[in-house]
Amino acid sequence: MTTVQSYVTAPMSGRPLLKWAGGKRQLLPALRGFYPVAFNRYIEPFFGSGAVFFDLHAVGRLDGKRAWLVDDNADLIGCYRMLISRTDEVIAELRQLAAAHGARGSDFYYEVRDTRFNPMRGSSCAYTPELAAMLIYLNRTGFNGLFRLNKAGKFNVPAGRYANPRIVDEVHLHHVATALRTRGVTLVHGSFDGALAEAGKGDFIYCDPPYAPLSRTACFANYTAKGFTIHDQTRLQHALVAAAGRGAHVVLSNSSAAEIERLYSTSDARRARLRIERVNARRAINSRAASRGPVTEFVITNVFRPKMLKAYAPAIQTSLRQVGQANARRRSPRARPPSVAVQWWDPGRLAGRQNGGLVFLDLCPPGARRKGRERGRFGIHSRRGSLAC
Ligand SMILES: C[S@@+](CC[C@H](N)C(=O)[O-])C[C@H]1O[C@@H](n2cnc3c(N)ncnc32)[C@H](O)[C@@H]1O
Repeated sequence: MTTVQSYVTAPMSGRPLLKWAGGKRQLLPALRGFYPVAFNRYIEPFFGSGAVFFDLHAVGRLDGKRAWLVDDNADLIGCYRMLISRTDEVIAELRQLAAAHGARGSDFYYEVRDTRFNPMRGSSCAYTPELAAMLIYLNRTGFNGLFRLNKAGKFNVPAGRYANPRIVDEVHLHHVATALRTRGVTLVHGSFDGALAEAGKGDFIYCDPPYAPLSRTACFANYTAKGFTIHDQTRLQHALVAAAGRGAHVVLSNSSAAEIERLYSTSDARRARLRIERVNARRAINSRAASRGPVTEFVITNVFRPKMLKAYAPAIQTSLRQVGQANARRRSPRARPPSVAVQWWDPGRLAGRQNGGLVFLDLCPPGARRKGRERGRFGIHSRRGSLAC
């Protein structure tokens, strides 16, 4: 049997509390490559089950930092708040639900869903330990762990087919409560806009909105009764471009829908140095098992990846050779230094000794125009002289 003692000493697992449509647990190995090396606050405006937050928290990357976790799903935030403040009561309620489920199975699931959970639900502020326990119970035993609301705002997920679902994992519930209770962590019920408007220089924003549909039937967005439309995706693009422009580190997951590619290929997105990268994922939310295969998804980001160093190494070498040639020509009064090969780069990371000189490459992404004030701030500096780009 698990004891409270064991949760105190057991290491944090980094596993979220809930199964969640679009949860990013499977994609973490790819997403970790986009975590910025250093950052100020952590902002996650589409929190869901919080796979990235729990991953960062488990390895201490959020120690001493503020984290702002936002979701527009009132039940989700209400449930987390109850788990934080009334952990033992939530666990006690959950134990009772687990015992009744063991005896009555899916009949009990529908009874809880229709005669207790839906009638009792209100705002996130009005949540109780009983409601929080019911949400966790329905999540563990419902179809695919979905949380789906119909247009009338009622939770309408059918029972799942699990032989022996694990409904109460006391150690894990305490871990999750401890992580969310950490000083500096704030849980907010609301839309993404407020959190993104607050984000500033050095903050790390991870956004995982409901995905834009690849086809008319192939995407799930009903986490809230409002859904998430192309207008919401456009508002999100504006907010992220603005935040990136203020110096925030932005990482956004989305489907590879044409409209997302279009939104993040605009000149303002490029000026904000947002680029589209492709990652391989498995799509799990589909009623037909055959449609759950691998898919390409987008990660849209302005975060420099150390992997790029390798990819750009030849360009750096060329640039350094050009510096040498330019310096040689400078000694002859009529020769003008050639402009140095320009590559997108994050100068903060690259600053270091190379070939005896301090190297900065241009911040400009290919195709975007450099702003005048950046001229001269970035360039290639060698021991024998420097060359402004
Ligand atoms: C794809 S899920 C996030 C999954 C999460 N990354 C995880 O690992 O579980 C999208 C989330 O966005 C939330 N959401 C939908 N519309 C929103 C809005 N306008 N503002 C903030 N959150 C919203 C949903 O409730 C849902 O939890």
